[in-house]
Amino acid sequence: MFYPQELIDQVQQNNDIVDVINEYIPLTKKGSNYVCLCPFHQDSNPSLMVSRQKQLFKCFACGEGGNVITFLQKYDSKTFVESVQTLADRAGIKLPENYSGEYSKEKQDHKLRLIECNTEAARFFYAYLRREEGKKGFDYFKKRELSDETMKKFGLGYSDINGNCIAYLKKQGFTDKEILDSGLGTYDERNGLRSKFWNRVMFPIKNQAGKVIGFGGRVLGDGEPKYLNSPETTIFNKSTNLYAFDLAKASRSSYFILCEGYMDVIALHQAGFNMAVASLGTAFTPGQANIIRRYVKDVYLSYDSDGPGVKAAIRAAKICREFNLSCKVIDMSPYKDPDEFIKALGKEEYQKRIDEAKNAFIFEIGILRKQYDPSDPDANTRYDNEVAALLAEMKDEVQRTNYIKACAKEMGISTQALSDMVAKEAGKNRKFNEPERLRSGIHEKKDDPNIKAQQLMLTYLAEYPSIYPQIENIVTPDDFTDETYKEVAVKFFEDVKNGIASPARMVSMFEDEEIQNKVSDMFTSYLNGIEGREEKEAALVDIIFRLKSNSLDEMKNGGKSVDPTLFMKKKKELMEIRSIKIKLPE
Ligand code: CTP
Ligand code: MN
Repeated sequence: MFYPQELIDQVQQNNDIVDVINEYIPLTKKGSNYVCLCPFHQDSNPSLMVSRQKQLFKCFACGEGGNVITFLQKYDSKTFVESVQTLADRAGIKLPENYSGEYSKEKQDHKLRLIECNTEAARFFYAYLRREEGKKGFDYFKKRELSDETMKKFGLGYSDINGNCIAYLKKQGFTDKEILDSGLGTYDERNGLRSKFWNRVMFPIKNQAGKVIGFGGRVLGDGEPKYLNSPETTIFNKSTNLYAFDLAKASRSSYFILCEGYMDVIALHQAGFNMAVASLGTAFTPGQANIIRRYVKDVYLSYDSDGPGVKAAIRAAKICREFNLSCKVIDMSPYKDPDEFIKALGKEEYQKRIDEAKNAFIFEIGILRKQYDPSDPDANTRYDNEVAALLAEMKDEVQRTNYIKACAKEMGISTQALSDMVAKEAGKNRKFNEPERLRSGIHEKKDDPNIKAQQLMLTYLAEYPSIYPQIENIVTPDDFTDETYKEVAVKFFEDVKNGIASPARMVSMFEDEEIQNKVSDMFTSYLNGIEGREEKEAALVDIIFRLKSNSLDEMKNGGKSVDPTLFMKKKKELMEIRSIKIKLPE
């Protein structure tokens, strides 16, 4: 963290989250909390909850959450430091200008340097493209029918053999380590530090805040590899960023168009489709779906029309469905990709294809259909079963029911018949398959009752810190089996003990946005379902029992040898938990 914790605490204490959010979005009081339409996804019912007591916000629809600082980070695409500065200004707190000394400040600073290094390189490549020496690159883009305006909008550039960006970056004061860590340089004994990109046109890749975090570089003409991308670095995470995401977000469109390539995105933007994005040289990831769903509910896939393109589209569609993004496939035939389509037929035709786009699942079973001979009854049965198996993979019941209806119609069989087949397929796997999202590690284990118990325990403690003396000899941070939960529990228990419990403070312990959301989850579980003090007290005992029994299971199954006396002692303690009484404050 850039500033000392006390200062961040002070800034938070002087910026009540309810007042701050209310300055951006009008809040309505609901019970002891406040609610409003969530700005992080297309919200129709107020799903964003703001708690004055906990100084947290949480959207129960899209999962976005955090404290007053992270709210500004997300809402205004500010960095952590910028958010703290804004809030300090708002409260009239003076921040030290050059705070130094902490390790995490160094980490934060280093990241900022890497972004600066990439930004400088982008400037260099951009300028080079417009010089006589960069004419090759400029002509290449012209040949691909890009206007000057488009080249400018995307900050396109050129890196060539003579245009040594490394020398330039060094002159700007960047160290060898910074250049290496930024992904722009490679090092070997013989040649020392050299530019990673040679004789390539350059596509700067920006993060959500519009800062340059990496590059894609394309060879002029033929050559291998066709595209060379920056490696993953501390600022460039390929699975949670998208090409042109900052622009698509700003378009305020109700849907995104997802493509495979940089040039596809650029061609689409040039034709006015400024909601186009692409993954970054890798397949579409759950992390990217998770980011998209904060802004739109609909995704149109504009993938290549060849075999691999179709396969990739089907995979991307599946990930979208798991995030409840409605997904349609744009038919690009007879052209290879959107870039070629637009060049050949123009934007009106492309718009028509958007309007005609088919639901991705219906598209997928259409592809499947072609593999079976329609005149062979056995082949038809196999086809029906295969569709049923795909449907059985859908975990969301409402979604599955709706898809069964639509598919039955498409397949010419009754809904009931298909529904029975799906149930049979699901039975084969004993249960409905876990969606990829749960395996991806993003919303990992959220529905796991053991994790839920850990979450509820922290929420209780956040709402009623005064119960701490009653539980301190029963529950310890070691009972939290999830790594992040444990880390938070250690700190939070200590703060509660010292009478300075602040869930909002816990959020700032982490830099990663997804983890910040997770931490907000920990303190905002839905307790309202339980009415009355006595019911809450009883529920709390259940939660503690679940927590302890899971922790005991982990001990047994953890692989480490367990002291049998200790185990028996714990087991006896566990049995006694059922009879304890915890009193919540009046
Ligand atoms: N890609 C990559 N490395 C390669 C080839 C492709 O990272 N060797 C990624 C790039 O992000 C590229 C996308 O895959 O934008 C799509 O590749 P492809 O379909 O081969 O290229 P096009 O988008 O058609 O590129 P162009 O029109 O420039 O030929
Ligand atoms: Mn292409």
